[in-house]
Amino acid sequence: MQPMTEPAAQAQRVAQLLMCAPSAYDLLYEINAWMHLSQRPDKRLAWKQWEQLYQTLTEKVGIPVVLIEQASEAPDMVFTANAGLPLPGRRVVLSRFRHPERQVEEPYFEQWFCEHGYEVIRMPPNCAFEGEGDAFLIDHLIVAGYRKRTDICAHRYLSQITGLETLSLELVDDRWYHLDTCFLPLGGRLVAYYPEAFDWYARRVIEQHFETIPVTPEEALRFACNSVVVGKHVVMPAGCPILRFHLEERGYTVYEVPMSEFIKSGGACKCLVLYLLEPV
Ligand code: ARG
Repeated sequence: MQPMTEPAAQAQRVAQLLMCAPSAYDLLYEINAWMHLSQRPDKRLAWKQWEQLYQTLTEKVGIPVVLIEQASEAPDMVFTANAGLPLPGRRVVLSRFRHPERQVEEPYFEQWFCEHGYEVIRMPPNCAFEGEGDAFLIDHLIVAGYRKRTDICAHRYLSQITGLETLSLELVDDRWYHLDTCFLPLGGRLVAYYPEAFDWYARRVIEQHFETIPVTPEEALRFACNSVVVGKHVVMPAGCPILRFHLEERGYTVYEVPMSEFIKSGGACKCLVLYLLEPV
């Protein structure tokens, strides 16, 4: 595997987003603490919420969005953040899902990446990795979560592929099972995060490497950290006025989108989006 050379070390810019319209979205199993078969999403409302997110991104933020069709047997495929981790140079590390319920998505995402000219890199067998749900490229670093959905062996592998240092952050609360549910990179060295989702050592690592905005428990539960950041635009789940205030104070333009029907499955704005570094 070729380690990345110079361009990888440059700040990453999001060129496009990959999304999946919720044509087969549903809640048919329970694989995280948010999912209850007794509380299934209202599909019409989910569709409306997804469209509002899509319109906010394309029309207000002005970022192009490309789509993948949802497979009928993959009710969680709308959460495209879990497709993989795109790297500079049209490469992608494909996810290897923890749960069989989501493993069915892998061939669909793989096919999409291949058809769009990506070199697809796979994790070794038995090494779970859930893509951008658990890993972000931030400047010269990869910041990655582990324990719930991603195994720590995936972090080592990410470093090998990229030649970049991976900051490994342990997630300790089942409600914040993916890094993107509790950690929000905002550009440069600024991040918002929910400290209680991490063990003490991860909190220390975050505080040492970043300028931080702490998120309150109430807003963390409303998925405040699960926001989409494009330059100085932030699209966040509705009902998080404190984080909104902090962001506006720092010059961000903030848009709110209701996400109730996706939160029932344990996801919100960011989970519904994959950051692509090059236009397809
Ligand atoms: N129900 C999905 C799961 O448990 C939700 C995924 C949310 N995605 C994310 N990037 N946090 O896998």
